[in-house]
Amino acid sequence: METSCCCGQYPLREIIQPIVERNGRDPSMLIQILHETQEAMGYLPQDVQQCIADELKMPPAEVYSVVTFYSRFTMTPKGLHTISVCLGTACYVKGAEAIIEKLKKTLAVGSGQTTADGVFTLDICRCVGACNKAPVVYVDNDQHEFVTPELMVEILSHYRDDQEYSAAESIVDPGLPEQEEAQL
Ligand code: FES
Repeated sequence: METSCCCGQYPLREIIQPIVERNGRDPSMLIQILHETQEAMGYLPQDVQQCIADELKMPPAEVYSVVTFYSRFTMTPKGLHTISVCLGTACYVKGAEAIIEKLKKTLAVGSGQTTADGVFTLDICRCVGACNKAPVVYVDNDQHEFVTPELMVEILSHYRDDQEYSAAESIVDPGLPEQEEAQL
């Protein structure tokens, strides 16, 4: 029996073959092929990697090593919302680690993992270019600034309660200055 995609509707090959074809069946295009496959499927589990390896006639271990080397690739499905905590220098100095710890405790997940209910995935990222507003946390495409662990919990509850929640409604601690230069 042929393996299906994550939704079970399409045989894997129906999704992967056109991507591999588009990239000339060229093993040197592996990163691009993985990128496009992840776009199409959301993640790159083992059977997907095996299918790509078959199509490119290369060892599955080689595909696996690329998937695990680059942090942008994931082998587990992402949640409805992705939380990316900046752990660049300025955010680190301003307390990003405490936010990460709070998130891990509140959501009962580790970094790179998705909550059991599939709502949140916790990620760590590097400087997002807003050091003067550190610590910075992204939830999907929404930037949250001057975040504290307590504020983070409040932000989470908004995303849980309201799928339409956006940065326009973002909560900013009034006690914090509008522009705060990062002490690097
Ligand atoms: S270090 Fe976090 S925005 Fe620059």
